[in-house]
Amino acid sequence: MVLVLEGNPWDVVDLRAKKAMTTRRAFLQTAAASGVLSTGIPRFAHGWDKLTINHGAATVHPLATRSAMRILQSGGNAIDAAISAALVLGVVDGHNSGIGGGCLVLIRTAKDQILAIDGRETAGQSAHEQMFVRDGKADPKLSQNGPLAAGVPSQIAAMKQMHTAAGRLPWKDLFADAKKAAFDGVLASKSIGRTIAAEADELRKYPASKEIYFHPDGSPIREGELLVQKDLASTLGNLAEQGADWFYQGPFAQSCENYLKSIGGILTAEDFRLYQPKLRTPIRTKYRSYEVIGFPPPSSGGIHIAQMLMMLEPYPIGVWMRSREDAYYHLLCEVMKRAFADRAHWLGDSDFVDVPAGLLDPQYAQDRMADFSSARASSNIDHGWPNGSSERELNSSEPAPGEDRKHTTHLTTADDEGNWVAMTCTVNTSWGSKVTVPGTGVMLNNQMDDFSISPGTPNAFGLIGSQSNAVAPGKRPLSSMSPTMVLDQSRQPILTAGAAGGPRIINATLQVLLRVLDGGCSVAEAVAAPRVHHQWRPDQLLFEDQIGVGTPWEITPAIRDRLTALGHPLKASGALAISQAIHRQSNRLEAAHDPRAHGSSEA
Ligand code: DON
Repeated sequence: MVLVLEGNPWDVVDLRAKKAMTTRRAFLQTAAASGVLSTGIPRFAHGWDKLTINHGAATVHPLATRSAMRILQSGGNAIDAAISAALVLGVVDGHNSGIGGGCLVLIRTAKDQILAIDGRETAGQSAHEQMFVRDGKADPKLSQNGPLAAGVPSQIAAMKQMHTAAGRLPWKDLFADAKKAAFDGVLASKSIGRTIAAEADELRKYPASKEIYFHPDGSPIREGELLVQKDLASTLGNLAEQGADWFYQGPFAQSCENYLKSIGGILTAEDFRLYQPKLRTPIRTKYRSYEVIGFPPPSSGGIHIAQMLMMLEPYPIGVWMRSREDAYYHLLCEVMKRAFADRAHWLGDSDFVDVPAGLLDPQYAQDRMADFSSARASSNIDHGWPNGSSERELNSSEPAPGEDRKHTTHLTTADDEGNWVAMTCTVNTSWGSKVTVPGTGVMLNNQMDDFSISPGTPNAFGLIGSQSNAVAPGKRPLSSMSPTMVLDQSRQPILTAGAAGGPRIINATLQVLLRVLDGGCSVAEAVAAPRVHHQWRPDQLLFEDQIGVGTPWEITPAIRDRLTALGHPLKASGALAISQAIHRQSNRLEAAHDPRAHGSSEA
């Protein structure tokens, strides 16, 4: 029996336990206890159309997931929970993300709105195309480490916008867990220990970084040792009490300018004052019976996931995934190459360059696949010519293969009212610029490396770009971050996913979606299943050979042989991206964290 509730959702409450119904949680508890919810999917005319009876969160760190769940269980909604979890991650997982970095956030509110909040860092007002060129040659060391590598940190501004738009608990309450973790200290995780050791030479160059991440005898903090961040705790306290203006209009911005100036940086207090997060128009694509919602430029993720889904749609993905895996991976690889060739050429900050809308035209997707052959790998893919495009200079030389690095973090939360959040946060590569602003505990990002710093110079992920993604004052570097939501036919959220892993984010998110939507996998299986990655240049099909061994999803030697016979240059890889996701089945949420990292999920 399906219980259909028309009119005010609180009506049902009045019928059953009027007095207890002062909060939605009380309603849920009573309704669940009375069996109402187990009889089917209630549909409401106002507010939430479909109800879930639980809430969930997934992040790469148990303390962050716990923080999200604590907020959800103490009257907060999914937006509050995501902010709190992201702040905790900045303390316990600071090599990946933090308030010195930025984020892209997709929110589906219980009122059925979609908000795409662009909290991407911007280049300072005195940034320019030649800023990383020395003696006529671009020097990626300058865009990857040190004072020039940082864009204006933007995570706090984005969180403020999230909170203003749809948060519920007081702003200051969302800082409590992060502040406590920073003040009391946390045991350094394996990846904290590994990345401090790996970046020790650069980190030691900056006294405030050295003071936090090294013992007084100069040895680095190792896995399992206590990492205490008193300055960061005090910064979080100031943000909690004084709000985002303390960061963008006040003492933080000034300390940052003063310090960066003293070590050759260019960001100023004025750059902070000018920073604004932007509300973007999300990308909406029909895929089978679903609507997939992605993040638009300055991310490339939404466009390319949409493009690839359109190219894939004519094929029986679910069947091939289970019984013709070579055909499945061959097809995936071919659509990835076409999408990433377009990425390198056409994508950049749409406030500065025209990103052709024709990239999202289903006819264009069909045309791009006109030369697809099921019998051989294509060897001469170039970018396409979508409607609305005009020529621009391409950085044409071959990039170095991207290093096998994993940084950044994707988290997701959903509540029982129908608010869902997909949030990807990053300082870019591990420990960002390595520069900590003295007295603040804030490590600045190295997001400037996501620009195409000069023709032919690959970034840390081996990506090349065109003029579309060249440095300009106030511009946002192109991102691969792909917070994504999927709605069902009645516009209700059914799935959300995203990932960390540079360009691998786009392909990993796509594969999680396909496993659930076409393959019928549980979200945990979908996140865990092995993946492949191709980014056009270098011409290399990466595959995970150690993941999923012995499961039905293993990329077996027989599958690999067949892909090699089709002409794909295969290369075994470690973990390709770290994904978190939430799926709703009927009225129950299931949250999943990626077993490739040491996260946790609860629902
Ligand atoms: O925005 C981007 O695309 C990158 N800054 C993300 C970096 C990342 O995922 C690092 N992980 N490997």
